[in-house]
Amino acid sequence: MSSTGRISERIASIAESATLAVDAKAKALKAAGRPVIGFGAGEPDFPTPDYIVEAAVDAARQPRFHRYSPAGGLPELKKAIAAKTLRDSGYAVDPAQVLVTNGGKQAVYESFATLLDPGDEVLVPTPYWTTYPEAIRLAGGVPVEVFAGPEQGYLVSVEQLEAARTENTKVLLFVSPSNPTGAVYPAEQVAEIGRWAAEHGLWVITDEIYEHLTYDGVPFTSIATAAPELGDKVVVLNGVAKTYAMTGWRVGWMIAAPDVIKAATNLQSHLSSNVSNVSQMAALAAVSGPLTAVDEMKQAFDRRRRAMVAALNSIDGVECPMPEGAFYAYADVRGLLGREFPGKDGAVRPQTSAELAALILDTVEVAVVPGEAFGPSGYLRLSYALGDEDLATGMQRLQDFLGQAVR
Ligand SMILES: Cc1ncc(COP(=O)(O)O)c(C=O)c1O
Repeated sequence: MSSTGRISERIASIAESATLAVDAKAKALKAAGRPVIGFGAGEPDFPTPDYIVEAAVDAARQPRFHRYSPAGGLPELKKAIAAKTLRDSGYAVDPAQVLVTNGGKQAVYESFATLLDPGDEVLVPTPYWTTYPEAIRLAGGVPVEVFAGPEQGYLVSVEQLEAARTENTKVLLFVSPSNPTGAVYPAEQVAEIGRWAAEHGLWVITDEIYEHLTYDGVPFTSIATAAPELGDKVVVLNGVAKTYAMTGWRVGWMIAAPDVIKAATNLQSHLSSNVSNVSQMAALAAVSGPLTAVDEMKQAFDRRRRAMVAALNSIDGVECPMPEGAFYAYADVRGLLGREFPGKDGAVRPQTSAELAALILDTVEVAVVPGEAFGPSGYLRLSYALGDEDLATGMQRLQDFLGQAVR
């Protein structure tokens, strides 16, 4: 019997991306002339470096790039991604193990679609990036949340993972540095988690898109090299978006065993074919060039990170561990819930972080993303990838407003 609804149940069950929704609301208010400060965006506020843009301009002038190219990516880019992976993580892969995707997001979808059968469970360290559970469910899988709060630095332990493992667990998702918490797993813990996954025959999908954004000399550790016991049951996801300020160019990739990449490439050949050749050539210039631009961005992010976390921790009822990577602060605001705030139409007592975020946007025109987008209520994610002045203004508004809370 065919279903009667206009929209299929599978697609109707997908939630709107809460991070994009906050960003869209903030942008709409801004367009209407409101002085909104947006802490919602997950993208660097810098332009793409010139030499990368030039490579794209050059490619756009070449007729061979006006045509379809191999669905799995330009051979020269796949080779450069393999070389970059060896350079940055010491992980040796063959270009045949690389699939170039339309942004890291497509690599996330295709990895789950390629590995999961209906009912397969995926362990998802929580708070998680908002896209993962949707991608897992669309592939027929079951996301299993494993929550780690601020008291453990937002880092899940092997004991917690083991307690969540069942005979249906097929994949462990691993994300370090993390969106939304900015947490970075120490090398020892990465190795321990990887060994545990290997011992139980699990696959690990590791999202390494923030690999170059760590602070205070904290090293990034790839689970693929830290736990060689995983063998070929590891899928590395990455992209140029965050490292080279290239969110709009849409180039990411997936690295896995040749049979996995072959299957995922078949999927992509029917879904979207090749990624824009012009963008691929820009990505080629990015991954085969220096890391100086990201080092410069990092200095600005580091300054803003300190300013933001100090301001957050100065507010009674807010606790924010110092994030060691990415460009997000994840503040614990459970201490503010249930307190009384002055709203536009009288006093209000927000009970959830979603209500608190809506109140903040309505009252002092500051956009933050509530914890509900990433797991349990009680937290706010603030991106510090915005200008220093905006950051100072936004934090001052938050301090003034949240500081008025009455118990
Ligand atoms: C953890 C993580 N993975 C992947 C992505 C996807 O990035 P893109 O699709 O822009 O390459 C993002 C973007 O926000 C992210 O935060």
